[in-house]
Amino acid sequence: MGRMITPHPSRPAAPARTVRKAVVPAAGLGTRFLPATKATPKEMLPVVDKPAIQYVVEEAAAAGLDDVLMVTGRHKRAIEDHFDHAFELEQALAAKGDTVRLDAVRDPARLASIHHIRQGDPLGLGHAVLCARRHVGDEPFAVLLGDDLVDPRETLLSRMLDVRDRRLGSVVALLEVPPEQIHRYGCAAVEPTGEEDVVRVTGLVEKPDPEHAPSRYAVIGRYVLDPAVFGVLERTAPGRGGEDQLTDALQELAAGGTVHGVVFKGLRHDTGDKADYLRTVVRLACDRPDLGPEFVSWLKEFVAELDGARPTHHRDIAA
Ligand code: UTP
Repeated sequence: MGRMITPHPSRPAAPARTVRKAVVPAAGLGTRFLPATKATPKEMLPVVDKPAIQYVVEEAAAAGLDDVLMVTGRHKRAIEDHFDHAFELEQALAAKGDTVRLDAVRDPARLASIHHIRQGDPLGLGHAVLCARRHVGDEPFAVLLGDDLVDPRETLLSRMLDVRDRRLGSVVALLEVPPEQIHRYGCAAVEPTGEEDVVRVTGLVEKPDPEHAPSRYAVIGRYVLDPAVFGVLERTAPGRGGEDQLTDALQELAAGGTVHGVVFKGLRHDTGDKADYLRTVVRLACDRPDLGPEFVSWLKEFVAELDGARPTHHRDIAA
């Protein structure tokens, strides 16, 4: 069932958007997170108490995209089941009158109208996006990488949708990173537009050496794409160059002057990277009203212990 989005009576209705659909590629092999990802997709790894991909679908729904297509791979079942009803579990919780947990179990299926398509072989991100062609049709659409988390308080996707509606073409999200990190990302050559957080993308280079990088702007896992991208991806032989096909396709569109970038200054995490995953869990746990206060005081004590100070509970025992 699609989610009905009703504007608050005191707020003006949000402008009608041309983008309605989101595509969430989640068919990668997740090799950086082995062995956890041997039988579980990395997008299903829990971040506090929700799988990473649920935050991503919540972000799409919060931006008004109520049709979400998951591109899944060999671990399709876990993702499909998570966004479906779980009758036995729901019945057991309902029988106990545990409405809080019942809602938590039901929420994922209520976020949006969720669809699934299988990528088959993980032939790269460009190929995963191409798998969405039939479902998306001839409409602009958003792509949210299933292991890339943007802080839930940020409005990056809404801003990107707004830029697409005004400037047409495609829109990428850009994050300024230190020069020594740019080799991990696609990097954008940009020129100003007059809007502070919006740039025109004149070119894209995949994983450049710092000395050859055209800027410090890294492309992160949020895109609003014009359907023209499908024609370009179609010409790119699947499997060629692995995951750089989407960057190649965007480079071709950028050369035609139809790609803009929204410069993002907020928090973003790559939960497919072990160290970043740990930072994400800690940060989001600290922010949680139910867990945060107790967790933060433990964390402070733990850090003090790491710094060599005697922990409080030891002092108490010694006193
Ligand atoms: P990554 O490069 O982070 O995914 O792709 P990966 O290849 O699974 O990771 P490592 O490097 O081996 O650890 C970014 C996103 O694109 C999806 C991934 O699931 C992830 O959400 N993806 C990647 C696909 O859907 N299909 C692919 O063929 C490749």
